[in-house]
Amino acid sequence: MFHPLRVLLAAFILLTVTPANAGMDKDAKGTGLYGDEWRPDAVHEYWDPEAYHKSETDLVEGRFTGEECIECHEGITPGIVKDWRQSRHSSPTSGEPVTCNACHGDDHQKLRFPSPADCGSCHENQHTEFQEEKRYGFPGHTLAMERAVDAKHFVDKPKAEVTACLQCHSVASKCDSCHTRHRFNAAEARRPEACLTCHSGPPHPDDETYFASAHGQKYLAEGADWDWSKPLTKGNYPAPTCAYCHMTGGKHQVADKAIWKFGIREVNPKTAENEVKRKRWIAVCTDCHEEGESREWLEEPDDERKRAWTQLYKAEDELKSLRSDDHIYPAAGERPPYPTDWLDSVLPFERIGFYEGQASAFYNVSEIERDYFEMWYFNNLAAYKGMAHGAEKITSEAHVRLNQDLEKIRRKAAELRELSRKEIESGSNVDPKPLWLHGPYSDINREQN
Ligand code: HEC
Ligand code: HEC
Ligand code: HEC
Ligand code: HEC
Ligand code: HEC
Ligand code: HEC
Ligand code: HEC
Ligand code: HEC
Repeated sequence: MFHPLRVLLAAFILLTVTPANAGMDKDAKGTGLYGDEWRPDAVHEYWDPEAYHKSETDLVEGRFTGEECIECHEGITPGIVKDWRQSRHSSPTSGEPVTCNACHGDDHQKLRFPSPADCGSCHENQHTEFQEEKRYGFPGHTLAMERAVDAKHFVDKPKAEVTACLQCHSVASKCDSCHTRHRFNAAEARRPEACLTCHSGPPHPDDETYFASAHGQKYLAEGADWDWSKPLTKGNYPAPTCAYCHMTGGKHQVADKAIWKFGIREVNPKTAENEVKRKRWIAVCTDCHEEGESREWLEEPDDERKRAWTQLYKAEDELKSLRSDDHIYPAAGERPPYPTDWLDSVLPFERIGFYEGQASAFYNVSEIERDYFEMWYFNNLAAYKGMAHGAEKITSEAHVRLNQDLEKIRRKAAELRELSRKEIESGSNVDPKPLWLHGPYSDINREQN
């Protein structure tokens, strides 16, 4: 199958090369609106290959056939060759095997990491569906990369805290997020675990809420025995997984049914457009449930969202009144503006909550605004996802926390007013700046970045 001399050569090369940085374009700048403000790391060659991958494998020169790639790489990267051999690309139901050169090219000085369009040259349907997602706007997979690099807090926060953003948001720039290389196995992508590398954590607890639902419980109890080689269509699975519900019939997009989207803003679920989306949802549930029952379940989040937003608006009102009375420290004029926000440097303005500017809530704000951020971004979103996925306990616990958050914000607001009253009465004028300008967090970050 392979030539012993080639394997020896491969072993020699392997011992003498450090593959780190092999494919990273070292002169690359950042991408997006603030591309001039940040530099990519070596790992970005994987997350956004079209922007950053540049082949620099001078050690091996020449053009090779698929067989030759496999022979040499059997010694260089045996795991990759083994995965490929087990994949459908190695033994398709019809036609020739799809060898290494089909995705990477045959010239070893000009190797590519395949983009979605490269995969699309053979998988046109999946690629077209993926691209069509754009028309539903944010959030969504196709637009995920620009959403992250164009977020103001992405360039403003210390680099160590934002590098990982693009690991998850790379779902836009490569097709191996759900069926990983080099198996490219559809069965893997049908399982909930395929989504959980990214769909977990406080702002999007999709894992917790799904596993706590009746569906997730059934998956946990019986999933090991299900036949995952079958497509995600009616009759093939006893209970739905993430992809069963969100990628109906194997359609490669996740946005055509999203009404509440992320849960971070209030929406009107009753518009004509949203009614179309709801009908699409009902069609999914009626694979297994009755129609009337399905509609009732799907409308439950509408009431829950109303309750959540009532509390969030009360907290926002509290902050707005503190702002107009000049009780928020640091005040807008005392914080550095966002790097590229020329307007903020001319007209500093305290932005509160989603409508006045989402980015301002993440970083570099007063304590009471951070409290609001946690209420809105963590507890509110947990309440939403619990409801969307049928995990009532998670929702009711999150609502208890939302109520506590509102109380805490009101209590702190009263304290701030009281302090200010005392300050005026006693004629003292305490400078609050040292409290937030210095501290372990800001000092370390200033030195390290
Ligand atoms: C004679 C041995 C040999 C042959 C033949 C060969 N490769 Fe490689 N390949 C290597 C070595 C060694 C490296 C690691 C080089 C480095 O990191 O600088 C490598 C690296 C790669 C990489 C990683 C590049 C990166 O930027 O990280 C890819 C992809 C690759 N080869 C694909 C192929 C394909 C496709 C073919 C056939 C067209 C092929 N190779 C043929 C030895 C070989
Ligand atoms: C040169 C054409 C070609 C390219 C390029 C290509 N594929 Fe394939 N792909 C195929 C063929 C052929 C099959 C097997 C179809 C069959 O067996 O009926 C396949 C099968 C698959 C499957 C199904 C596997 C399964 O378990 O059923 C997935 C997933 C897949 N490809 C993903 C990708 C991804 C992702 C890329 C880009 C990184 C890609 N393909 C690039 C031709 C290609
Ligand atoms: C269906 C398309 C496809 C085929 C066929 C394919 N690869 Fe890849 N390969 C990929 C993708 C996608 C990546 C990951 C790129 C990224 O992370 O952006 C990759 C990455 C790699 C890497 C870099 C891995 C790393 O972690 O640094 C090597 C080396 C490689 N492939 C070698 C091979 C070899 C050898 C073969 C043939 C046995 C092969 N590939 C066949 C799609 C393919
Ligand atoms: C590599 C990371 C990654 C994987 C794996 C992943 N996603 Fe996502 N997903 C994201 C990101 C990032 C966003 C938000 C993008 C944005 O900022 O607009 C998202 C958004 C979504 C949305 C929201 C769409 C909307 O319009 O509201 C749904 C639904 C979704 N993904 C479902 C899934 C499912 C189902 C799977 C598994 C089959 C999955 N995702 C796998 C990263 C991922
Ligand atoms: C663990 C994976 C993961 C990491 C890390 C991550 N995100 Fe996301 N992000 C997601 C997912 C998943 C969603 C969509 C959630 C949903 O629709 O429920 C999302 C949503 C978003 C949205 C909202 C999209 C919209 O249009 O409403 C923005 C903006 C965003 N992320 C930016 C970032 C930034 C900036 C970072 C780094 C500080 C980051 N993300 C880190 C997975 C991640
Ligand atoms: C969010 C996760 C996710 C992403 C990203 C993703 N896929 Fe898939 N893919 C799946 C799932 C789930 C299936 C299984 C669908 C089914 O059962 O019908 C699948 C199946 C496939 C298949 C096999 C289809 C068949 O009928 O056998 C191909 C080919 C494929 N994907 C190509 C791609 C290409 C090309 C891209 C990039 C444009 C991509 N995938 C990105 C989740 C994903
Ligand atoms: C029974 C079907 C079902 C399953 C299974 C399911 N979801 Fe959902 N998911 C929903 C519904 C319904 C919504 C709310 C949709 C709406 O009205 O916006 C939702 C909302 C979401 C959202 C926010 C975007 C949106 O459409 O509002 C993301 C992201 C998400 N789910 C990811 C996942 C992930 C990841 C899994 C697996 C761990 C999963 N879901 C399992 C039905 C499901
Ligand atoms: C593939 C089949 C399937 C699909 C599709 C499906 N479900 Fe279910 N669902 C089940 C099964 C099976 C159970 C019972 C699980 C158990 O044994 O506890 C269940 C239970 C439930 C329950 C718990 C109440 C009860 O009767 O036990 C709710 C609520 C629910 N589903 C809502 C939905 C909604 C909403 C959708 C569509 C977004 C949906 N389901 C789609 C199979 C499905």
